[in-house]
Amino acid sequence: MSESNKSLVEQFFVAGREVDRLSFMTEDVEWWNGLGKFPAAPGQTVFRGKEEVGARILGRAPSPPQPNGRRIDRYDLSTISFHDVHTIADGPYVFRQHLYKATTTGGKPYENVYGFLFRFTDDGLIDRIWEHWGTLNAYETLFQGPLVVHDPDEILMTTPSVRQRLDLERPVDRDVISECMEIAVHAPNGSNQQPYRFIFVDDAETKAKLAAIYRSAMADFIGRPRTDAAEDRVDRTSEAQQRIARSVAYLAENIEKVPVLCVPIVAGRTDGHGSGAHAERTSTFWQAGRWGSVVPALWSFMLALRSRGLGSAWTTLTLIREREVAEVLGIPYDEWMQVGLFPIAHTIGTDFRITPRKPAEELTRWNQFRSS
Ligand SMILES: Cc1cc2nc3c(=O)[nH]c(=O)nc-3n(C[C@H](O)[C@H](O)[C@H](O)COP(=O)(O)O)c2cc1C
Repeated sequence: MSESNKSLVEQFFVAGREVDRLSFMTEDVEWWNGLGKFPAAPGQTVFRGKEEVGARILGRAPSPPQPNGRRIDRYDLSTISFHDVHTIADGPYVFRQHLYKATTTGGKPYENVYGFLFRFTDDGLIDRIWEHWGTLNAYETLFQGPLVVHDPDEILMTTPSVRQRLDLERPVDRDVISECMEIAVHAPNGSNQQPYRFIFVDDAETKAKLAAIYRSAMADFIGRPRTDAAEDRVDRTSEAQQRIARSVAYLAENIEKVPVLCVPIVAGRTDGHGSGAHAERTSTFWQAGRWGSVVPALWSFMLALRSRGLGSAWTTLTLIREREVAEVLGIPYDEWMQVGLFPIAHTIGTDFRITPRKPAEELTRWNQFRSS
């Protein structure tokens, strides 16, 4: 029996595409695959029944585009080869390990060691498969921490303002904030003086005070006299603007429930209200130097959050009431400017679509303001 089981396993891998692998299996077959990242089945590691196994694991239908806009670059079946094949049979079990080589449809070489444990019924059909491959899980867990997005381009293009998908229930460990700060401090800044501080608030009472200021500032902003013609050009009835408005309102209502709030500050006021060396330094040169010495670090921080499954939103509303925030946090207002208020939480799910933006071409000029 074990010899025929072994030869079925051999067929399972090497038979041509015309051979239906599902015919080797029982109706209630179970296929375990520890990856947990199959397209359309995130987190799922056990696939039950022929239909699911056929659709999710063996299926070769084109994968839908992923939520992050990427396409799956699966291996090209016509290029596969097996190396270092070892097959052992013992009772109803057959184990096979091989080195699998193939080229992806995108032309990349793919190589991975696989170990398959099969269990057979007395009728010679496969009813259980355990598929072990690669070491991604161990790599992420043991060596990388909980990095959820690795690709820098993906992180840069899919880091949105997170408001409704901030997980208000899950606490944020101070260690993950420290880790992101370790990364953020490497951003460029004027004369490498790093004239900024990030004040993190996880104390409920202080968060409630900041939340009250945020809501008052929002009321100020909504009730302000409108004088700017450019503002009037924004179509507030469009679906996109309505969605932003709902999201903004949600954040305002829930901001004290966000596990951590951050107020980044930069030394030196450029608005003419300061004291000391920066009191008179209100030109764009000085302004750019100040903001440019904190914003790169802040964006790095937000990207580091994103790559670890956390999110934030850039908000500036509290600057309408900057003195009040300074008072709550003990910031010397005359010497430090605030950048805004940044809610920080784990995100609900980690797949984010590419942020909708104008095409880069529209925002790019060569040689002159008006490109010829
Ligand atoms: C300088 C700046 C100020 C912002 N102020 C606020 C704010 O006070 N409140 C808020 O909810 N969102 C604020 N946002 C977030 C924007 O609304 C958001 O980035 C924009 O709508 C695009 O959405 P997306 O980043 O999710 O693609 C601000 C963003 C920036 C860059």
